[in-house]
Amino acid sequence: MSTAARPRAARVAFVTCATLPALVADDLLLGDAARAHGIEAVPCVWDDPAVEWETFDGCLVRSAWDYHLRRDAFTTWSREVAAAIPLWNGPDVIAWNTDKRYLRDFAAAGVPVVPTAWAARGASLDLAALLADHGWEEAIVKPAVGIGSSGISRVRDGGVVAGGAIVSGGGAISVPRGAVAAQTALDALLAQDDVLVQPFAPSVLERGELSLIFFEGVLSHAIRKRPSDGDFRVQAGWGGTIEPARAGPAARGVAAQALAQLDGTPLYARVDLLEEDVDAPWLIELELVDPVLYFGEDPAAAGRLALALARRLDAR
Ligand SMILES: Nc1ncnc2c1ncn2[C@@H]1O[C@H](COP(=O)(O)OP(=O)(O)O)[C@@H](O)[C@H]1O
Ligand SMILES: [Mg+2]
Repeated sequence: MSTAARPRAARVAFVTCATLPALVADDLLLGDAARAHGIEAVPCVWDDPAVEWETFDGCLVRSAWDYHLRRDAFTTWSREVAAAIPLWNGPDVIAWNTDKRYLRDFAAAGVPVVPTAWAARGASLDLAALLADHGWEEAIVKPAVGIGSSGISRVRDGGVVAGGAIVSGGGAISVPRGAVAAQTALDALLAQDDVLVQPFAPSVLERGELSLIFFEGVLSHAIRKRPSDGDFRVQAGWGGTIEPARAGPAARGVAAQALAQLDGTPLYARVDLLEEDVDAPWLIELELVDPVLYFGEDPAAAGRLALALARRLDAR
């Protein structure tokens, strides 16, 4: 698709948050690639009332990395924008995918999801009893609405092994690392949000998390994120490292199984897997809202999404 083939240049809002008004490096790479297709990428803060969304040809959610603090406002925003201009990924996907309860839909459909116990906000849950019932020595507790390891703790009966600030659902509670009873960390989360409890998968310390990145349902590239020594959170913000990876047949199979459950094909998707067993990976997340897409790890990747975006714009 050449620039000359388009009737006119397009302006696309690249959606970010107030703390990242100029976008992140990943999305600057995408912006450069989009320019080659006659697309001007304009950074826009999603909750900035001055943005005139209807003046854009489309809107791509990129680094709205505070949505978990105001999820209702964010989903409302997405519906309003999508009523005026094309929004990728769309508002129904955003409403569903911003709450990890979507993992239950995958589990119900037979997709191998990380084993998960669920507790509703406000419920009381005896962590020691839960761990004993499941035979889990160590567990991860995480809020249903969260990003970048917000609010996550690695726990064992009696103590938090590692954790961070609990930030979820509009509030922030500081949990000093290693100093709080695991039950206290869980109670603090339950006061704010629905909670997931999962067995801690030790493979995350060695193999990390494998991410497969898809544009229009086609695998573009894969990367592996590993935590820094002493941590279990793979994100760069926690000291994690990233490298290009090969996605084997088992990983591709789980990703395909998960993507097949979606209504329609998302413009972009990132499938995150834990490999306790490399031949039988577990889905930990399928990110359809604003995942990092790791364009820096594959020089052709930004061009692939830019082309897919140009095609969506031309198909309007
Ligand atoms: N069950 C688990 N076992 C081991 N590590 C986990 C587990 N769940 C989460 N983690 C670690 O915590 C990180 C964040 O969890 P995740 O479910 O991906 O939520 P989010 O990325 O939305 O904050 C993961 O990338 C991984 O490093
Ligand atoms: Mg994640």
